[in-house]
Amino acid sequence: MSFSRAIKIAPSILSADFADFGREIRAIEDHGADWVHVDVMDGHFVPNLTFGPPAVKAFRAHVKTVMDVHLMIAPVDPYIEAYAQAGADFLTAHVEAGPHIHRTLQAIRGAGMKAGVALNPGTPAGAVEHLLELADLVLVMTVNPGFGGQRFLDMTAKIAAIRAMIGDRPVHIQVDGGVDPATAPLVAAAGADVLVAGSAVFRGGTADTPAPYGKNIAAIRKAAEGAARSAA
Ligand code: DX5
Ligand code: ZN
Repeated sequence: MSFSRAIKIAPSILSADFADFGREIRAIEDHGADWVHVDVMDGHFVPNLTFGPPAVKAFRAHVKTVMDVHLMIAPVDPYIEAYAQAGADFLTAHVEAGPHIHRTLQAIRGAGMKAGVALNPGTPAGAVEHLLELADLVLVMTVNPGFGGQRFLDMTAKIAAIRAMIGDRPVHIQVDGGVDPATAPLVAAAGADVLVAGSAVFRGGTADTPAPYGKNIAAIRKAAEGAARSAA
């Protein structure tokens, strides 16, 4: 996987049909998804529950692109090896999930994965300042984590501050929550290159009729690329 700041669209399968993940993953990849975003929630760090390692391992069999696993769990460290075994390419942990995010990022890389660090909306950009050598991705949340379909929170100033801190380092900036063709230009212009979108990708389609997935992904990509070009 070589590093590129080109815009990447990462559909969140939190908005997929939960009885049909294999076909849903194939449908989004066949219709332009660059990465597949998997939201892991524990009912403790966030007020919702989703997938454990065996489910994520089952998804892996269908993912041909990049499996991007967003952990909204606390603690993180006891589960790192299980998500490595499940086949995560990127494993992202929240800075708010425990006192030792530095150690957590080292452990994620140590287990052979790319390491991501996520920030809740209330957490300032400076929280990642001393982590950039240990991270392959910084995830700026644009909703409070836990649910799909929430309203976008404007975190463009935070994204721009992190983009400046990253400089030439090969670190992605990912944005997650309320991303659609209207909000994608804002985050892309601020410096984000990986755009997660759940409801805005899956709306209007199904695994049987996946053409809307392709249209939705293309619309987000087009909006983001236009803004990223004019900001460059
Ligand atoms: C929120 C999750 C997101 C969510 C995004 O806790 O991390 O990935 O699925 O959903 P939308 O795009 O619908 O806001
Ligand atoms: Zn997510």
